[in-house]
Amino acid sequence: MDINILSEKIHHTLSTLRYGENPPELYEPIRYIMALGGKRIRPLLVLLSAKMYDNDIEKALLPAAAVEVFHNFTLMHDDIMDKAPLRRGQETVHEKWNANTAILSGDVMLVRAYELLLNVEQDKLARVLKMFSCTAAEVCEGQQLDMNFENRTQVSIQEYIHMITLKTAVLLGFSLELGAILQGAPDEDAENLRLFGNNVGIAFQLRDDLLDVYGDKDKFGKQVGGDILSDKKTFLMLTALEEANEQQRQTIIGWRDKTDESIAAEKVQAITGVYDQLNIRHQTEQHIDLYFQKALHHLDTIALPEENKATLRGLALQLMERDR
Ligand code: IPE
Ligand code: IPE
Ligand code: MG
Ligand code: MG
Ligand code: MG
Repeated sequence: MDINILSEKIHHTLSTLRYGENPPELYEPIRYIMALGGKRIRPLLVLLSAKMYDNDIEKALLPAAAVEVFHNFTLMHDDIMDKAPLRRGQETVHEKWNANTAILSGDVMLVRAYELLLNVEQDKLARVLKMFSCTAAEVCEGQQLDMNFENRTQVSIQEYIHMITLKTAVLLGFSLELGAILQGAPDEDAENLRLFGNNVGIAFQLRDDLLDVYGDKDKFGKQVGGDILSDKKTFLMLTALEEANEQQRQTIIGWRDKTDESIAAEKVQAITGVYDQLNIRHQTEQHIDLYFQKALHHLDTIALPEENKATLRGLALQLMERDR
């Protein structure tokens, strides 16, 4: 069974979900964001790790859908917080409707994610719900740190890695651990899969930060330069601050707190110029590879034949090189 068949199963499972009807302002945005597509990486990770232990992955489908619904909830709220105009090439929910709508529709999605997780077998349910609750709280912690960092001038790379571990990586780790647990994999394997996912997740967010500056808007589907505009402390920004000469430093600092759309193009161009001078793109790519290698170490530790791990390994590699 290859990735396309698993993707098709995810697509089908998501298409069977019913969110609700009234009031339509509450449920339409949910159907809207879910229909925008997206890469569906997280449910794919659930199914890939499940398949490593048992070819019959039917019981993992609804839990995998739960993770995707949760992810889309985080995106809906993230776009309000980041004032993002575009998601997957289309208007964000808070732009198309308004922020209150995006808040409430997101809330319902979180509730729906829990409801979908109730499809886990009884003997594993408490463990899974506990893990999920912990992960969901960590995502919120990461998101709050991300917000706090916007207004801070000094953030270390270590603090940044901690922040992205929480906001992004732990959900990838959870997805992989979930798939393993559903199939009764050994605890040690579930743990290694989670650590593999956490490190892939760090690399995944580094790549996201890179694409936010150097991506192609039509492929990436998000506003290019959004992180620069809102003074995000990304790996690119922190590395540039560390290595800037006095003049470059003044350029960066001079643009701080200027977040108005009217100066967006000029600000993005100026900061990207500094990144280019310092070869930040290449340094970010090296860092992505560093975390990818750390991830592979955990995959290699798992005592299964390589053929069971090959598809997951291949997907992770694709994610490192993605352009959307
Ligand atoms: C976007 O996640 C948010 C991040 C954690 C970087 P994805 O890149 O998986 O977004 P979709 O679901 O494919 O649109
Ligand atoms: C995403 O971080 C983290 C979560 C959605 C939890 P970003 O803010 O970088 O994600 P995008 O770039 O908007 O997708
Ligand atoms: Mg964000
Ligand atoms: Mg965002
Ligand atoms: Mg981003």
